[in-house]
Amino acid sequence: MAYPDLDSVSARLYQRGLASIPDGVSRSLALIRPHPIYVESGEGAWVTDVDGRRYLDANNNFTSIILGHADPGITQAVGRQLVKGTAFAMGTEAEIELAELLCDRVPSIERIRFCNSGTEAVMGTIKAARAFTGRPMIAKIEGAYHGTYDHVETSLGATPGSWGPEEAPSSVLYASGTPASVGEEVAVIPFNNSGAARSIIDRHGERLAAVLIDTMPSRVGLPLIDQEFLSTVFATARAVGALVIMDEVISFRLGPAGNQGRLEVEPDLTALAKIIGGGFPVGAIAGRADVMEVYASQNAQRPRLPAGGTFSANPVTMVAGVACMSQLTEASFQRMDEVGDRVRRGIAAGLAALGLEWQVTGHGSLFRIHPHARPIRSYRQAHLTPDEEAVMDNLQKRLLEREVYLPGYGLGCLNLATTDEDAAHLVDAVTDAVGVLL
Ligand SMILES: Cc1ncc(COP(=O)(O)O)c(C=O)c1O
Repeated sequence: MAYPDLDSVSARLYQRGLASIPDGVSRSLALIRPHPIYVESGEGAWVTDVDGRRYLDANNNFTSIILGHADPGITQAVGRQLVKGTAFAMGTEAEIELAELLCDRVPSIERIRFCNSGTEAVMGTIKAARAFTGRPMIAKIEGAYHGTYDHVETSLGATPGSWGPEEAPSSVLYASGTPASVGEEVAVIPFNNSGAARSIIDRHGERLAAVLIDTMPSRVGLPLIDQEFLSTVFATARAVGALVIMDEVISFRLGPAGNQGRLEVEPDLTALAKIIGGGFPVGAIAGRADVMEVYASQNAQRPRLPAGGTFSANPVTMVAGVACMSQLTEASFQRMDEVGDRVRRGIAAGLAALGLEWQVTGHGSLFRIHPHARPIRSYRQAHLTPDEEAVMDNLQKRLLEREVYLPGYGLGCLNLATTDEDAAHLVDAVTDAVGVLL
């Protein structure tokens, strides 16, 4: 098939959607121009759109699907819950079960509270750090995505014209209308730059509630983190009395205890979401018992940090989360590492055979394709020029024509149902699609 197809059901749905939804879809990244793809169903590693076209899913709902679409274990668990009711104002045993599973798996997680998204989870960890330390500021990594809470959007859209000095990046606001005061409460650290991290954390010292870090940030290019940078962030944060918050919303899929398990670090707080909900909306604020105590009422008084959430810990999400996470064994992560390596190596070899110095970064089930040869260790190096952005946008469309669904900026994610043949299909499709772009 050719993309775009203006006679397709997707194209017609888009026209219809535009009348009631700005951009015709509810998430900016689901928009593909001139028309997005509307999906009908998914099974295993593949999805089928409303025109009956199949795509190998290299997006997996922005990394939230790990076992595969319509996993039978999750479907059965959810089916059993649906007939019992979907949302109650009381607690449920399923909530405790998922909490226990996660506390058992991850040494730094002593207590956990559920919410509905990664955005809420990150916001909840920051509010917990502020409540615990009594301090107003956070520091975050330049360019890193942590959801849509005002403070963490700082520097997300930084460009060469706005990002300021390398050693002391500007706190660039993102969404129009964000109050300027938000930028004053956020310090920005360049990834993998230990010297800058030390001096920025030191400079804001006593005002800093937390340093927020995703150890494999997708918008920073999915680079590997330097051990020295990681230790510097932890040590300097602790020296000034700030907490370390790890955003494991995506990176939790990198190992049985997330990326913190692989890197052998124990943050004070962790934000979780995506895979822990088994394909349903979820988030979780997790960490040290004494810090998480800010959520608990003291002597029947209001907690230091009151938290609501109509659908937080709803039993459908909780049983789906248990059904998903309990199926993930050491062997599952080994398989994802293996299939991810196969895809990263295969694409890199295909690109090299085309005579291109493009790169593929990532680990485990995550990969990102970069249409340039600059080393990728920080946001500024990974940041695409407008021409490179156009190339990646074009690649996404040429991949649709080759039965692959990849996000427009080249972040790929595989699920456990991906077979070796599927991996080969992906590698061939990328190589072939890049070939026609040249
Ligand atoms: C690292 C990271 N943190 C937080 C979020 C926000 O999660 P959600 O989309 O569930 O709000 C995302 C979403 O992609 C993410 O990649």
